[in-house]
Amino acid sequence: MILITGGAGFIGANFVLEWLARNDEPIINLDKLTYAGNLETLKPLEREARHRFVFGDICDRKLVSMLLNKYQPRAIINFAAESHVDRSIHGPDDFIQTNIVGTFHLLEAARAYWSTLPEDGRDSFRFIHVSTDEVFGSLDAKDPAFCETTAYLPNSPYAASKASADHLVRAWSHTYGLPVITTNCSNNYGPYQFPEKLIPLVIFNALSGKALPVYGDGRQVRDWLYVKDHCAAICKVLETGHVGETYNIGGRNEKANIEVVHGICTILDELRPLSGTRSYTEQIEFVKDRPGHDRRYAIDASKIERELGWMPAETFETGLRRTVQWYLENGNWVQNVTAGTYRAWVDKQYGTTPSTSAS
Ligand code: NAD
Ligand code: DAU
Repeated sequence: MILITGGAGFIGANFVLEWLARNDEPIINLDKLTYAGNLETLKPLEREARHRFVFGDICDRKLVSMLLNKYQPRAIINFAAESHVDRSIHGPDDFIQTNIVGTFHLLEAARAYWSTLPEDGRDSFRFIHVSTDEVFGSLDAKDPAFCETTAYLPNSPYAASKASADHLVRAWSHTYGLPVITTNCSNNYGPYQFPEKLIPLVIFNALSGKALPVYGDGRQVRDWLYVKDHCAAICKVLETGHVGETYNIGGRNEKANIEVVHGICTILDELRPLSGTRSYTEQIEFVKDRPGHDRRYAIDASKIERELGWMPAETFETGLRRTVQWYLENGNWVQNVTAGTYRAWVDKQYGTTPSTSAS
C-alpha cells in the first residue's frame, strides 16, 4: 500500500490511473479537492477496491497520522500543492499554506509513523516529494540546463513555496534520517490538465473560438514532458532511487511558448479544421506579460537516465498530438471542470473572457 497526496489533480490522477493499471498494490489517495482536484478524473476507479479516496488536507496532521497508522503504507508520494504560477501572483496565501506548511505537517506525521516501524520497515520506507524545476530560477539562452547541484533561485511565490518545501524535505532527511527523495521536473502536459495552464488553455480557447493569449513576446522557453513519462520516472525513483538524493526529470524538449501555440494550431487545423482557409493561428493574441516571468527553463536529466535507466517514451510531437486528441474526445471532462469558478479566474487573469472575431 502506498499513500499519495493530491491524487485528484493533473499529475497525481494520471499517476493513480497508471499505477493501478500496472500494479496490484493499493493506493490511499488524500486530496483536498481544491478547484484543481477533480473526482471526475477518477471516475473509472469508482468500483476499484485498490483505490481508497480520502477527502482531506495535508495540513491536517491528525488525519494524516490516522491514515498512516491505519493503512501502514510503505511509501508516501507528495503531489499535493497549489501549482499555478499566475494564481500565486494574485494570491500567495494558499501556496504558503499548502506547499510549505502542508509539507511540514506531512513530514512530521511521516516521521512519527516511520519511527514506529520495525527496522526493515524503516529501511524500506520512502517519502517521495514531487517538486519542480522552477526552484532553480531562470536561464539565459546560452546557460547550461539545470542539474541537481544548480543553486536554488526561485522567482515567483509558487517557486519560492516549492523551494521552501524542498528545503524542509532535505532537512528532515539530514536531521532525522527520514528516507526522502525529491524530484524536480519540468513542464508537464497531457490528459486531465486543468485548462488554466498553457497547453490545455490554448486547446480549450481555440475550440471555443476565443483568443489564444500569449504572454509578452512569446519567446519564453519551457522544457515539456508528457505526464505519463513523469509518472514512470516517479515509479523508478520510488523503486530504485537513492535515499537523500534529488533527481531532475525532463523531456529534452525545449520550446518557445509561441512554437507550442503554433504546434497546437497546426494539429487542430488538421483534426478539427475551421471553415474555408482559416487557421486557428488567427486567434493568437499577444497579451500583457506575467510579472517576473522566467525566461527559460531547461533540465539536464542525465542523472536519472544514467543511474535509474529512465527515459521518456514520448517525443513532444507525439505527446502533443495525443494531448490534442484527448481534449477533442473528452469535451465532457473539460465542460465539467470549466463551469463556475473557472470563469471567474479567466476574468481576473485576462481582464474579460478573451474572445475574437472567430467566435
Ligand atoms: P494540480 O494543481 O493539477 O493538482 C494539485 C492537487 O493537489 C489537486 O488535486 C488539489 O485538490 C490537491 N491539493 C491542493 N492543496 C491540497 C491540500 N492542502 N491537501 C490535499 N490536497 C491538496 O497540480 P499538478 O500539476 O498535478 O502538480 C502536482 C505536483 O507536481 C505539484 O507538487 C507541482 O508543484 C508538481 N509539478 C507540476 C508540474 C506541472 O507541469 N504541472 C511540473 C513539475 C512539478
Ligand atoms: O516548470 C514546471 C512548472 O510548469 C510547474 O512547476 C508548474 O506547476 C506548472 O504550472 C508549470 O509552470 P509554468 O508557469 O511554466 O506553466 P504555464 O502553463 O502556466 O505557462 C507556460 C508558459 O506559457 C509560461 O512561460 C507562461 C506562458 N503562458 C501561460 C498562460 C497560462 C502564456 O503565454 N499564456 C497563458 O495564458
